Amino acid sequence: MEQKQARIEKIAVLNEITSEVAHEIRNPLSIIATSAETIASKKLSAREIERLANDIQEETERMSGLLKRLLSLPTQKTIQHSRTDIGEAVSRTFKFISQKAQEKQVHLEFSCESGECYAMINREAFIQVCLNLSLNAIEVLPENGTLKAVIKADRDTVDVYITDNGPGIPENIIPRIFEPFFTTKPEGTGLGLAISKRIINEAGGSIKAASTAEGTVFRIRLPGAED
Ligand SMILES: Nc1ncnc2c1ncn2[C@@H]1O[C@H](COP(=O)(O)OP(=O)(O)OP(=O)(O)O)[C@@H](O)[C@H]1O
Ligand SMILES: [Mg+2]
Repeated sequence: MEQKQARIEKIAVLNEITSEVAHEIRNPLSIIATSAETIASKKLSAREIERLANDIQEETERMSGLLKRLLSLPTQKTIQHSRTDIGEAVSRTFKFISQKAQEKQVHLEFSCESGECYAMINREAFIQVCLNLSLNAIEVLPENGTLKAVIKADRDTVDVYITDNGPGIPENIIPRIFEPFFTTKPEGTGLGLAISKRIINEAGGSIKAASTAEGTVFRIRLPGAED
């Protein structure tokens, strides 16, 4: 009986890991596909081709990082966090989603109110979080909507606000949005926010959502890493 219970638990963990990998590989795959499509379909300058090829390379590396993280799960549960330029990571994310935003006619705004700021978090994992939040916003935003990222830093912390002026999240579901597998989308897996929260918490930070009928704001708070 105990053995059976242990097996059921193992299968549940495996199931969770498989769903997580599937979810997180979808974003880089879609960026690679879009870049390749652009290279194939347009007359581009050598520099533009080089830039898109670099994107493909970077996303392939990110996927391979994800797999490495997965394979090291039994021995090493946490990701290595190091000093990361938060502005650079957010602009990189916005670059990745710019095509999608253009297709949906969504405006992207980015501002960094405190000059250069650095936080202690794994760069690739942080980009993964920004992608999950930004794609959620783009999915709900109407034409001409705005997705905004604002960075504010003080002595010990760096705050990143990801804001959209979409329909908002109903009050009664806000407490559930970070739960694994909670989704209101027919095709959703409900893992994006659960994975994001785990990454931010592992880095010693926090993530919160606030929402009204005017839109939604996610605040990511990270431990700063000046010098
Ligand atoms: N910016 C937002 N505006 C409105 N609702 C949101 C927003 N971000 C998240 N949500 C709500 O939170 C739920 C959970 O989001 P999460 O990213 O975890 O999963 P998902 O987007 O439904 O699925 P997946 O990320 O697997 O495609 C969403 O289904 C949606 O109801
Ligand atoms: Mg999502």
